[in-house]
Amino acid sequence: MKEYFFQDNMGKPMDRVDGRLKVTGGAKYSAEFELPNMSHGVLVGSTITKGRIKSIDTKAAERAPGVLAVLHYQNSPKVPGYVQAAHPTEPKPIGQQHRVFYDEQVYFNDQPIAIVVADTLERARYAARLVKAQYEEEKHATSFPKHQGKAFLPTAAQRNPKHGLNDYVRGKADAYKGENLKIESEYVIPSEMHNPMELQSIIAHWEAPDRLTVYDKTQAVIGSQNAFAREWKIPVENVKVIATFVGGAFGNGLHTWPHETAAIIAAKKVNRPVKLMLTREQMFTMVGYRPFAWQKVGMSATPDGKITAITHEAIGQTSSYEEFTESTLQQTRMMYTSPNVTTRYRILPLDVSTPIWMRGPGEATGAFALESAMDEMAHVLKMDPLEFRLKNHTDRDPERNLPWSTKFLKEAMLMGAEKIGWNKRQLQPGSLRNGDWLVGYGMGVGTFGAHRNRASAKATMFADGRVVIQSATTDIGPGTGTVMVQIAADALGISPDKIIFELGNSLFPPAPSQGGSATVASVGSAVRDACIALKKKLASLTTGNADSGFRNAKYEDLTFQNGQISLTSSPGTKLSYTDVLKQQKLPEIEVTEESRPSNEERQKYSMYSFSVHFAEVQVHQLTGQVKVTKVVTCADAGKIVNKKTAGNQMIGGAVGGIGMALTEGAVIDDRFGRYVTKDFAEYHIPVHADTPDIDVVFVDKPDFINNAMGTKGIGEIAIIGVAPAITNAIFNATGKRINELPVTPDKLI
Ligand code: MOS
Repeated sequence: MKEYFFQDNMGKPMDRVDGRLKVTGGAKYSAEFELPNMSHGVLVGSTITKGRIKSIDTKAAERAPGVLAVLHYQNSPKVPGYVQAAHPTEPKPIGQQHRVFYDEQVYFNDQPIAIVVADTLERARYAARLVKAQYEEEKHATSFPKHQGKAFLPTAAQRNPKHGLNDYVRGKADAYKGENLKIESEYVIPSEMHNPMELQSIIAHWEAPDRLTVYDKTQAVIGSQNAFAREWKIPVENVKVIATFVGGAFGNGLHTWPHETAAIIAAKKVNRPVKLMLTREQMFTMVGYRPFAWQKVGMSATPDGKITAITHEAIGQTSSYEEFTESTLQQTRMMYTSPNVTTRYRILPLDVSTPIWMRGPGEATGAFALESAMDEMAHVLKMDPLEFRLKNHTDRDPERNLPWSTKFLKEAMLMGAEKIGWNKRQLQPGSLRNGDWLVGYGMGVGTFGAHRNRASAKATMFADGRVVIQSATTDIGPGTGTVMVQIAADALGISPDKIIFELGNSLFPPAPSQGGSATVASVGSAVRDACIALKKKLASLTTGNADSGFRNAKYEDLTFQNGQISLTSSPGTKLSYTDVLKQQKLPEIEVTEESRPSNEERQKYSMYSFSVHFAEVQVHQLTGQVKVTKVVTCADAGKIVNKKTAGNQMIGGAVGGIGMALTEGAVIDDRFGRYVTKDFAEYHIPVHADTPDIDVVFVDKPDFINNAMGTKGIGEIAIIGVAPAITNAIFNATGKRINELPVTPDKLI
């Protein structure tokens, strides 16, 4: 039986349920909570990049007014869960490998070496400046190009030949080398920093020696709960993590970081809640970032434009103490029909902090190289890049040799091409101009696994008709609360304004982190299942009631709509949900449901979301200034639950892609191993003046193999493929191919 088919609310561009709270300051972010007896922590960072702390002089800081403690490796309370012989080859999906205040070793510049706790933030900040450390410095390695030759296959792949990060060969290895029509190019992406509006922050509060509550900026309340429980060797249920609102996060909240442990250590020591918020500068060193990457693509094709071979190699930066890896080469394995595909992934440890996924993570890095190479190849073939992509479009996953659950990329490409006015594009670069400005058009394709994970939700219906649904997911900005309300409203057959969705609390039924574009498919499925369970409960209360007119009716015989149960065969026989509860004298009914993806389906089908982005740019002939004048961003992301919030995500991803292409890049001064770009004056993210109006196109075709709502993820595909759309447009405008991001004006003159 079909529970519902997009009754009223699914697909509606509903306003955010928390919009008013957010714009009026009513939404509380983690650092905005106030607890009695609060104290404030400020971190002191190392001023060297590699070596040992010889001594720390904390006397002046300790004497400063209001200071409660100055903690460092010599006097820090011990963290029982620190693994003595933690080896960087043991990957930890959740929880940082770096053991803060553990010993005298310094692994990266601005590594937290001490925390000062005081009764006010100002006093803590002042005293932190009085802490002086002496070091024994060692020679550091922070330049990626200098050390590139030392890259190696990730240990996990070395140990397990079946690991997905191993070299991949379909057909013949490096087959492009023997072909006539080919291209071969190298690509470089600098480290990019997340820089969400809300800085990473935490309030750590030991409610008892073995009971910890934290208000934390995280994308994973359950993940953080588990990490802290392991770290402090206390029962998981003794750790409470609250992240009611998250002011933007692009992956930097998928991991726990040294500042969180530092605050928890400090709270233990001073026996008071400790509030700690990173400074904007510390956001560049103390939480993760998109790692510096070098890539090389070789590609060959037949004269009529069929790809014959692709080889894609990538090296990603990691830290010296942890092996961070990502799926940089995935798109190359499955996007095009090529019979010969080779991929090789390596990592390069440097004396830097550990990277982390950053929106569209490795895939966005990989797509820059692959989609640039596609443009280069099309140029060699004298073929329209759209036509070239359509020619190599595949209706089956060539990597796994499976059908797609759904794929409407072709449709997305044609819709987007129409909207940008692709027919204006000239094959010959430098053909179009607008006064002193050269005009060009480019495109880039993106894909990301349409993931779905186990999640659960609790739904409570009260006698007054209100429904409260809870799940321990987070909302980092996409509008999760809003779409969950829409899903629940349709599943229950009640108005959205009767529904409250609560999230961001580890006490709620478990849900995965908000990451990997999987929240609607995962948590949405749990919410929907909980609502169906609620209806079944209502049905059982009704059909068991001799006077109700529903006696002996089965759940399947009932219609749930407008807050009423009715007999489908005799709609006049009806009862409101609230009357069901009142008749039974029940103040409320509640259910908790867990929802899992079907492994069987996941083995039968390949599930991906797809995107394609089109850009129009103008490049000033003399100054090399690039203006992005139009972007059309298109998604095949299954059924779109809310065109407004989903559209917001696509726009945000496009802006991120403009940053990647034109402005963003963290620069290390290799002499000191220190970032010189540590604020928004030096590290440029696109502002309104840098971004045009962005048109969003959704194919909006459901994927019911993925889940009952028909959704696929959006967050990642919004950025994957945007940067090459822009750099390809720059090539089309100027004939200059810049493969080292960001494409700043100096590179174009
Ligand atoms: Mo995203 S990189 O899964 O926050």
